[in-house]
Amino acid sequence: MNFLNRLFLVVVVVLSLFFNVSVSLAEDCVQKRTTPQAPDSNYKKINPLGSSPETIAAGEKLYQKDAKPLACVQCHGMKGRGDGAMAKGMNPKPRDFSCLAMMEDIPDGQLFWIIRNGSKGTGMMGFAALDDNQTWQVVSYLRKFAK
Ligand code: HEC
Repeated sequence: MNFLNRLFLVVVVVLSLFFNVSVSLAEDCVQKRTTPQAPDSNYKKINPLGSSPETIAAGEKLYQKDAKPLACVQCHGMKGRGDGAMAKGMNPKPRDFSCLAMMEDIPDGQLFWIIRNGSKGTGMMGFAALDDNQTWQVVSYLRKFAK
């Protein structure tokens, strides 16, 4: 094997190692979810609101401040990483909305359903006081964390 061939091989090996490591790093954030799956009729629903600046601003306000009984930020954190002040010691941990590898597999309708109904036996309470419009606004906002 001449020198150039060897050099080429080394470059290929180093590049593929690097690629594998970065792919597995991206997937390391995937959490074990214990949330029940939304009923079929809700699971696949697509967020009707999209992501206009008004929608995002309304969702942000609910998430960071106004949602009752407790603003989402307390558990899910300012940047949606699942690291809010109340998240310490919580098991299971609050969902990390910044984890693209996980969030791209969770449909809008599932997010909506859990926000409204909660996940029994975990810190995730249901937010029955949010109406449909407000719930979708929050979904639009939390989708931004993984982008
Ligand atoms: C007291 C802490 C707490 C608060 C407040 C809270 N959450 Fe959660 N949330 C959790 C925990 C813990 C989980 C993980 C539950 C599980 O895996 O079963 C979770 C999971 C979720 C999920 C994941 C759904 C799924 O199927 O993976 C969504 C969406 C969510 N929360 C949205 C919200 C929104 C929006 C708010 C505010 C309106 C909010 N949460 C407020 C603790 C909280």
